[in-house]
Parts: sequence; structure tokens; C-alpha cells
Amino acid sequence: MGSINKENLKNRDVISAKDFSREELEFIFDISKEVKEKPERFRNSLKDKIISMIFFEPSTRTYQSFQTSAKSLGSDVIGFAEPNSSSYGGKGESFHDTIRIFENYSDCIIIRHPAAGSAKFAAEISKKPVINAGSGFQEHPTQAMLDLFTIKSEFGEIDTLNIGLVGDLRYGRTIPSLCYALSKFDVQLNFIAPDTLQIRPEVEEFLASKSISFSKQSDLNKAINDLDVLYVTRLQKERFVDPTEYLKLKGSYRITLDNIKNVKEGMIILHPLPRVDEISSDIDNTKFAKYFEQARNGLFVRTALLNLILS
Ligand code: NCD
Repeated sequence: MGSINKENLKNRDVISAKDFSREELEFIFDISKEVKEKPERFRNSLKDKIISMIFFEPSTRTYQSFQTSAKSLGSDVIGFAEPNSSSYGGKGESFHDTIRIFENYSDCIIIRHPAAGSAKFAAEISKKPVINAGSGFQEHPTQAMLDLFTIKSEFGEIDTLNIGLVGDLRYGRTIPSLCYALSKFDVQLNFIAPDTLQIRPEVEEFLASKSISFSKQSDLNKAINDLDVLYVTRLQKERFVDPTEYLKLKGSYRITLDNIKNVKEGMIILHPLPRVDEISSDIDNTKFAKYFEQARNGLFVRTALLNLILS
């Protein structure tokens, strides 16, 4: 890890979780831990910076945590959370021109957009760093970083863990990013989903090319007792090509107290949130539920990342 330092991440785009080496991820986790333990060291470190947040899709955690992180670093934040308030949504301005404007007005662009490839396209247009805060069903790399940071904080190490991903593995963008980031570690992956929501072929092919062992199944109860981590996702209603398919699958999986009766002592349940009905709320009070801590970790990881990219 000795070869990685702040310079490696300075001015970097964050487009795909594939683009970060294990050493870089571990460096980001070390800095995130420092942010968590000694926040005063980072306060106002980006005092003269302006960060653009342009969100073409709804968001609670990603938007608010990036904004809180930027402000805790002393930066100003500009942009929009509602595209109809911009000329892009309201007057037909192009994506290209919108990016050029925010490139001129700020030091970095954080973007969420419903189209796959949107963040990459923005990075091609902008000379300033671009951070992907969700590109359609394709990727959500900073979510993967905070997911791994949470896993590392709980277990000390990521290697050797048995990780189950359950739910909408087809349309959930946190899933590919999580798989790409985990592929840098020695893990066993289990994809648990109804057939029509199983992991997409390009993710499978990527994992196979990295010799990551994985299994696919539809029965959660068969897999759950061997897992160290259960990562749950909601049905991505807004991304279904066929709305009747969504109605058929709605409610097809739900984690209840009954499912976790015989799980491993130290097993943890994660969820990128928002939750709809896939985790019963009485799980929240068990020692297994770590999803609210996971959301909190988003602050530390995003603060670390902004600090590393911009200072
Ligand atoms: C996720 C997203 O936007 O992809 N939310 C988040 O950023 N925490 C997950 C989701 O919407 O289901």
C-alpha cells in the first residue's frame, strides 16, 4: 500500500468502480476512517472550492451526504436537484452545454442521470473531475466504496467473506459497482434473485474474467445461513422495461425475522436504501441490521473522496 498517496487520486474522475485498484480503495478507506475519527483535520480543507451537484434523478442519501461533505470541507455547492428547474429540463438545453457550463463555474461535477454512460460522457466533456453519483442502471461507484468501507469496518478485512446479494440484481446500479469493487478482494459471491432479476451477463463475465467465484440461486433460505454479509436491494420500479413484470415481482422477496433465525452470529445486513418493503422493519432493532450505519458511512467516504480529489 506504500505506493499509493494523495497524488494518485488528485483530479481523478470517479466513473466506474472498475477504475480503482485494491490499493486505492484501501487508501480511500484509511482516509475515510480518519475523517470519521478526526473530522477536525479535514474541516475547511476545500475552503476556496466550488462543487457542482447536478442531479437529473431523485436522491436523498447521495445528494445530502455529498452536500454535507462538501460543506464540512468548507466548499460552496451549486447545481440542481430537480432538472426542471434548469435550462436542460425547462428550455431544452443540451446535456453537453449543461456540462460545459458547470465545468466553467466549479472545480468538480457530481452527476446523477438516468442514462447509462452519462457520467462517462460528462467526463469526456469536462476537464474538471466528474464523480458518478448514479448512471442509470449501470453503476454507482461511490455507493460501492461506502459499502466496502462498512464491510471493512465491521469485519476488519474483506478477504474470505461470503457475500449474498439479494433482490433486483438486474436493474439495481449499486450491484455492478459493488461486484466490481469486491472483485479486487478474495470473496465468494452469491446472487439470490428470481430468474428475471438475476445479475446481468456483463457483470458475470467481468467476475469470471477476474476468477471470482460466484453462485446464482433463487431461494434465500438455502443460502442465508452461510453468509457473512447479506446485501439487499429494492425492486427498481422506475427501470422496468415492462411495468406488468414489476407488478408480478412486487413482494417476491422480503427479509423477515423468520429468515434470520439461524444465521451466523456476526452476519450483517446491508441495504443502499431507500427500502420499500424488502426488509421488515422489526429487523432494524436486531444486531444484524447495519444499513443506517452504512448510510452514515457515506458521509465519511464522500468527504474523504472529495478531499483527495480536490485538495
Ligand atoms: C440507490 C440508487 O440510487 O441507486 N440509492 C442510493 O444512492 N443510496 C439505490 C436505490 O435507489 O435503490
